[in-house]
Amino acid sequence: MNISIIGTGYVGLVTGVGLAEKGHRVICVDTDGSKVDSINRGVPPIFEKDLEGMLERLVKEEKLEATMDTANAVKNSQVTFICVGTPSSEDGSIDTSYVERASQDIAEALMETGEYHVVCVKSTVVPGTTEGLVLPIMEEAGLEMGKDMGLGMNPEFLREGVALDDFMNPDRIVIGGADDRSKSVLREIYQDFESPIVVTDIKTAEMIKYVSNALLATKISFANEMSRICEKIGADVYGVMDGVGLDSRIERKFLNAGVGFGGSCFPKDVMALIHFCRWQGVNPRILEAVIKVNEHQPIHAVNMLEDMLGRLSGKRIAILGLAFKADTDDVRESRAIPMAQELLRRGARVVGYDPMAGKNFSGEVSNVELAGSVEEALTGSHGCLIQTDWEEFRSLGEKDFMVMSTPVVLDGRRVLNPEGFDKVRYRTIGR
Ligand code: UDX
Repeated sequence: MNISIIGTGYVGLVTGVGLAEKGHRVICVDTDGSKVDSINRGVPPIFEKDLEGMLERLVKEEKLEATMDTANAVKNSQVTFICVGTPSSEDGSIDTSYVERASQDIAEALMETGEYHVVCVKSTVVPGTTEGLVLPIMEEAGLEMGKDMGLGMNPEFLREGVALDDFMNPDRIVIGGADDRSKSVLREIYQDFESPIVVTDIKTAEMIKYVSNALLATKISFANEMSRICEKIGADVYGVMDGVGLDSRIERKFLNAGVGFGGSCFPKDVMALIHFCRWQGVNPRILEAVIKVNEHQPIHAVNMLEDMLGRLSGKRIAILGLAFKADTDDVRESRAIPMAQELLRRGARVVGYDPMAGKNFSGEVSNVELAGSVEEALTGSHGCLIQTDWEEFRSLGEKDFMVMSTPVVLDGRRVLNPEGFDKVRYRTIGR
């Protein structure tokens, strides 16, 4: 099938490359000329494992191209995916202005073609947006649903760092369609995938995306709350969750306690769902607690460190790991941000190190010094907080910490093996 994709950010580009790899002809559209040029040269404007080589090949084989011309892309395809960003507004609700703009451009182009075309939203939008915002724009332009166009919602579940693999081998594919014809066109796109396909109505599809992320975030905050009790009574939350997770109704994944969740999805999506619930007159008690626990975890880590070190004022503290998780340079909503702010508020001198994310972090919290290596960060420090589960940190042993002026370590992600630590004072969340 010929498919156009509006928005070549993270979701759009991975979707485009994945669909082209599955044999479709893909045209990616973006308003940013430099991104378009880069894609046409086979160079991904974002960093994601395996993307570069695959994109280069697909561009060479003429299976994928990029353009700034929405009308032309839409006219030369049967389906258009809207993959533009839906950033958070000040109050936590989502800003759908890019979706609106894309819909208008698509509607204009479709009015000229006169051929049946399916418009499908992939951006994360609160339930009701596809039918309440996108469809009315199409109808106002003069298009008739079912006759001139079909409508769908096909959420993504891509994790950063393994996004391409998540796209090619998803746990499930969710297709929401306004009618049978829209559903069957979207189904056809995914016919070569082996994953189960859930075909449903549009609002259910929109809801599946939010509920998935909210439940995963809930698992993490739940584990974090349990970790606090474990710390008090001398149990180990990781051992507890190993035992709990063997219950097939529960499953072990996403029950790792630590300094909380960050990233571009969980915090934003939970906040948007909270906002949406309130707007609908539903009190989001659990979701509010999920955010509260998450906001407290980095502060709790700082408290634990202070407990070990005494007053933090004037002390040099190293934060190892600034990215929101390992294998990415992304610092969006990274727990290192509130952690550094809290340390600074208590008068500490903060030195951060990350194998990839240092540059991105530098704009986030002023007054955090950046080190070029673990050793540089640790040298002369009074305390160390481990924030990201980078592989590089797993192999750190006692001697690496001996360069500190007092070797006191708070492991926020359970990355170190403290067996054999003799001189290092070590504590971890949930034990
Ligand atoms: C997430 C979802 O997994 C993905 O399906 C969705 O489309 C986008 O959001 P991502 O943000 O890339 O993906 O990262 P993920 O690996 O899910 O981790 C999110 C955060 O939760 C990280 O900060 C991580 O450290 C934290 N986390 C994860 C925990 O604190 N404990 C866990 O057990 C798991």
